[in-house]
Amino acid sequence: MSEELLSFYDEVGGEPVFAKLAHEFYKGVAKDPVLKAMYPEEDLGPAEERLKLFLEQYWGGPSTYSDTRGHPRLRMRHMPFKINPDARDRWLGHMEHAVDTLKLPPLQRETLLEYLERAAYAMTNTFED
Ligand code: HEM
Repeated sequence: MSEELLSFYDEVGGEPVFAKLAHEFYKGVAKDPVLKAMYPEEDLGPAEERLKLFLEQYWGGPSTYSDTRGHPRLRMRHMPFKINPDARDRWLGHMEHAVDTLKLPPLQRETLLEYLERAAYAMTNTFED
């Protein structure tokens, strides 16, 4: 396969990289009182798996997310949760830390962070405390 046909998923290292990203992110969520309180399940493992599968699919990896969860419709799925700027910034802070643990080349790191920032801003659904 020629290099330009590789997906971003493949380029960054595939499954183990997305598994680590989701895992490091959820380590941060587990220690964050504001975010942790939002999760309906005590066990964050299943949420970690859903995030991993979604990001893999988004970046050109396997479509397991949609095969098991249907169309992402992420903004709609987040409506039950109060995502104000504080929650968004906490989410992004844990994500930035998780991305840094991947030690990606600068261009890939920026590509990922830019997307995550845009997505987190799009998920904000209230400006109330
Ligand atoms: C901005 C702050 C955000 C907060 C506070 C937040 C919080 C949550 C919560 C509480 C859940 C439910 C846990 C579960 O059962 O899976 C969830 C689910 C999910 N979140 Fe977020 N989220 C945020 C942003 C994002 C962003 C930016 C993405 C994607 C780039 C994302 C992807 C997902 C996915 C894929 C699920 C599982 C959806 C499903 O299949 O049910 N979230 N999020």
